Amino acid sequence: MSFSAEWLALREPYDRRARNAAVMDAAATPLRDKPSLRIVDLACGTGSNLRALSPRIKARQSWRMVDNDLSLLARVPRAIAPHVTVTTVPIDLNHDLEAALDGAVDLITTSALLDLVSEEWLERLAVEVGARRLSIYAALSYDGRIELTPVDAADADVIAAVNAHQRTDKGFGPALGPAAAHAAVARFEALDYSVVRGEADWLFGPADRQIQIEILSGWAAAARDVGGVALADAVGWLTRRRDLVTAGRSTIRVGHVDLFARPTGTR
Ligand SMILES: C[S@@+](CC[C@H](N)C(=O)[O-])C[C@H]1O[C@@H](n2cnc3c(N)ncnc32)[C@H](O)[C@@H]1O
Repeated sequence: MSFSAEWLALREPYDRRARNAAVMDAAATPLRDKPSLRIVDLACGTGSNLRALSPRIKARQSWRMVDNDLSLLARVPRAIAPHVTVTTVPIDLNHDLEAALDGAVDLITTSALLDLVSEEWLERLAVEVGARRLSIYAALSYDGRIELTPVDAADADVIAAVNAHQRTDKGFGPALGPAAAHAAVARFEALDYSVVRGEADWLFGPADRQIQIEILSGWAAAARDVGGVALADAVGWLTRRRDLVTAGRSTIRVGHVDLFARPTGTR
């Protein structure tokens, strides 16, 4: 599945606002006293995690940015601050997750990835991260909650179809979709990790027209793809919702969860 740089740029300010501050602090605090750090960002896109997290850490940082999309990797900033070194590494994480984690690493980060992966891949991630006793900050996993106002009679059908579409294969096998955050917390707790989690919802107000239109169009297409909603119903729903957006009367909340998992004990 590919993601456009334009879409990632559109969502990044909302992601930034949504990120759970307590979870970010939990991720950044243990790193404060280290003189230097090595961070691996899995499925980095154009570097949203790098931009969000690196200013919160004073230490010298070296970020290894991993993605399989060369055009996104090309947009990752190399010179973000004097104490931050950035390298990009093209890797297909479905095939070569282990290569992404090789070498000395202090923290794994990822954002908007876990809902795309399968249960099997999440298990693999947990095994590899757990075997190396690494900490992981995983931001912005979709959790299935969508609230639209004002309410439309077809919302429930479209949302159910969107959540069914979330579970289809995004390149890692059948995706966890809305179950991802809960599954990740359970996986890391089973490894005796201490897990801090918190809501990181997207909130789009009446003025956030462009992102609302993008998201609603994507949902209508997803609902059609997965088959739960008839074409005429999807078109009617999208037309009504777009009219509300244009009139400045639409708000949308999309539930996400951030988590930070850290090894404890002596396993
Ligand atoms: C929703 S985007 C999130 C990007 C970035 N983390 C952010 O928050 O803006 C998902 C990312 O996963 C990457 N991706 C998808 N499948 C991948 C794979 N098999 N290997 C590596 N990266 C992959 C995409 O290229 C994309 O950058």
